[in-house]
Amino acid sequence: MNLYPPFPSMPFMAAWAPLLRLFKGLSRKGPGSETSTLRALSLCPLPAQPRVADFGCGSGASALLLAQTLQVPVLALDADGMALDDLWESARDRGLLHLVKPCPGDMANPGLAPESLDLIWSEGAVTHLGLVEGLRCWQALLCSGGVMALTDATWFDTDPPEEARRAWAEWYPTMGTEARNLQVARDAGLKVLGHFRLPSRDWWDYYDGVAARLPLFATDESVASVIEGQKAEMDLYRRTGSSYGYVFYVLQKP
Ligand SMILES: C[S@@+](CC[C@H](N)C(=O)[O-])C[C@H]1O[C@@H](n2cnc3c(N)ncnc32)[C@H](O)[C@@H]1O
Repeated sequence: MNLYPPFPSMPFMAAWAPLLRLFKGLSRKGPGSETSTLRALSLCPLPAQPRVADFGCGSGASALLLAQTLQVPVLALDADGMALDDLWESARDRGLLHLVKPCPGDMANPGLAPESLDLIWSEGAVTHLGLVEGLRCWQALLCSGGVMALTDATWFDTDPPEEARRAWAEWYPTMGTEARNLQVARDAGLKVLGHFRLPSRDWWDYYDGVAARLPLFATDESVASVIEGQKAEMDLYRRTGSSYGYVFYVLQKP
């Protein structure tokens, strides 16, 4: 594996090129915070030297924090090479290059041996596989007693506003409620160690970062529709964000 940037992107990321340019340099590419990551980590029973992977790590907000907190190697996998370049630079700046291992790859098929991990982390990325498929792929990689901690977009309201329902039907048609997602996890044979909703502050910190980048692309036609999409997403959250959000699920393989 190439240990230095530039890291290659997976071919399927080409379709997202304008969005990835807009997000370049953002420390988080989805809602989240150090506080939420550490809260979820406190729910994870781990061995002394856990084998850890962060799937869909983006530019590494959680992977860097896990490496720093646990002081063990963290495999940081993403399909977006530009995000891994940012992660590598942050790891270098924080003196964490000996622990954080950027890995370009497909989280649906990361090429790791079965039962080779004690902890799988994933913030905001399982949405791209769907929860059922994500749990199926990743559970096989966990050893017995291993833990998966992930955030997923979730309905808080069983009867959400129509505009939120329409938007999410497009972005994430299989999005579940907390009750349904917990049942999905149990049906997959996982034990629920805990779950909690991310505070709306985690959303606004992320959206503030995106909003600060929008003026840089004001005259760039190639990202115009992506910018419109981001503005619409923020407006939707402002109006209807109490009906949905991210939930951290902490799940253990028996
Ligand atoms: C919402 S972002 C979250 C990134 C990061 N976890 C964070 O919280 O800042 C989702 C990430 O999943 C990555 N991704 C999407 N599909 C992927 C796949 N099949 N394999 C690997 N990474 C993928 C994207 O490149 C992106 O970095």
